Amino acid sequence: MTQPKKLFIKTYGCQMNVYDSERMAEAMGGQGYVQTDSPDDADMILLNTCHIREKAAEKVYSELGRYKGLKSERPDLKIGVAGCVAQAEGEEIMRRQPMVDLVVGPQSYHRLPELEAKARGGEKALDTDFPEEDKFERLKSRPKAKRGPTAFLTVQEGCDKFCAFCVVPYTRGAEVSRPAARILREAQELVERGVREITLLGQNVNAYHGEGVAGARWSLARLIWALDEIDGLERIRFTTSHPNDMSDPLIEAHADCKKLMPYLHLPVQSGSDKILKRMNRAHTAESYLRVIEKLRKARPDILLSGDFIVGFPEETEEDFQATMDLVRAVEYGQAYSFKYSTRPGTPAAERPQVEEAVKTERLHRLQDLLWSQQRGLQKRMVGREVSVLFEKAGRDAGQMVGKSEHLHAVHAYAPDVEIGELRQVRIVESLTNSLTGELL
Ligand code: 5AD
Ligand code: SF4
Repeated sequence: MTQPKKLFIKTYGCQMNVYDSERMAEAMGGQGYVQTDSPDDADMILLNTCHIREKAAEKVYSELGRYKGLKSERPDLKIGVAGCVAQAEGEEIMRRQPMVDLVVGPQSYHRLPELEAKARGGEKALDTDFPEEDKFERLKSRPKAKRGPTAFLTVQEGCDKFCAFCVVPYTRGAEVSRPAARILREAQELVERGVREITLLGQNVNAYHGEGVAGARWSLARLIWALDEIDGLERIRFTTSHPNDMSDPLIEAHADCKKLMPYLHLPVQSGSDKILKRMNRAHTAESYLRVIEKLRKARPDILLSGDFIVGFPEETEEDFQATMDLVRAVEYGQAYSFKYSTRPGTPAAERPQVEEAVKTERLHRLQDLLWSQQRGLQKRMVGREVSVLFEKAGRDAGQMVGKSEHLHAVHAYAPDVEIGELRQVRIVESLTNSLTGELL
């Protein structure tokens, strides 16, 4: 019998990449590869990269540098770069790091087995096309192994919004929605493999408009209602959304669909209308706040999460204060904040830049505020009864860890609870990044 070959995948960036890495690992399983946790004994190393901010690409190059030794010891080792850096820099990667054998962009993953064969044959293999086909259909996995209780499911990819700072429309291409029937089938299969919670993924997930089961296009709300009917699926989430695509039926689903969790990641980026306009966000602070108001009316306990950029070109202290005001008005339970990072080829890269020290100082002030809101909201859970989906064993004996409906990590002494069980827990303490609870 031939030994299975070993594949080491390192994933950077967003959840979409996590999903893609799983699909690639499954596809390579068909080529006789099993996944390994260490690059040291791998036959193939695949970096699934992110291009969203500058440092991300630099990290990839320095990571590649670390494999130089391995590659010279074992010339048979194949090294591949996938993801958005692969899409954006393509041949440049092979020029900068000649030890890279394979480069594959996010829309070409179904061609990975062919590319691997080509690389095995000693040729350089590169594919950064945007083919028309549904790569996930072509990336079907083999017989269904049991898996953990939570899963990502990509329903939409790409973006047509062209925010002035963002590379996504260039690296992931135009917005494409997968047909609903395929998504429902994949969800059903996931549930049969033990999944209880599905997070629908898309760069612009709430702009979903895939072919419906009976032909006419479905919105994300319609898709959620169809998923709601799958027995054994207990929780539905979706990310990432754009404020302008928060339709009324989708907001109402937060009131009426019991499986849809009371948590929403709704990036705003800035609270200044001047900056929002320059960012080409096509919404104002006010219109964003109106969406939040409707959401809270539909689901009063909904926990909101956001993305923020400080130091966008020409952001003044006054503009920054408008962001702080918006944050105070919303009160976020979770947040991701970044210094603006220049991305060549995007419109904002050409504009007058804010000094680095100013960006750093603003980021600190914003993060202090966001962090105190986050902690405050988490603390308010103490004394409440929450439903927890248990995902894994905790550090202490008999302890299990899971997620609440609001996506808080919850630890509890639960020696008889199995992974994948949903149980009621009373929260007794709020720690830095998690809650402690008692099983009811
Ligand atoms: N600089 C800083 N942050 C960025 N993001 C996207 N592009 C940039 C950039 N050029 C942030 C946005 C987005 C999140 C995924 O990353 O906040 O919502
Ligand atoms: Fe980038 Fe804006 Fe599209 Fe989000 S909506 S992926 S920030 S261009």
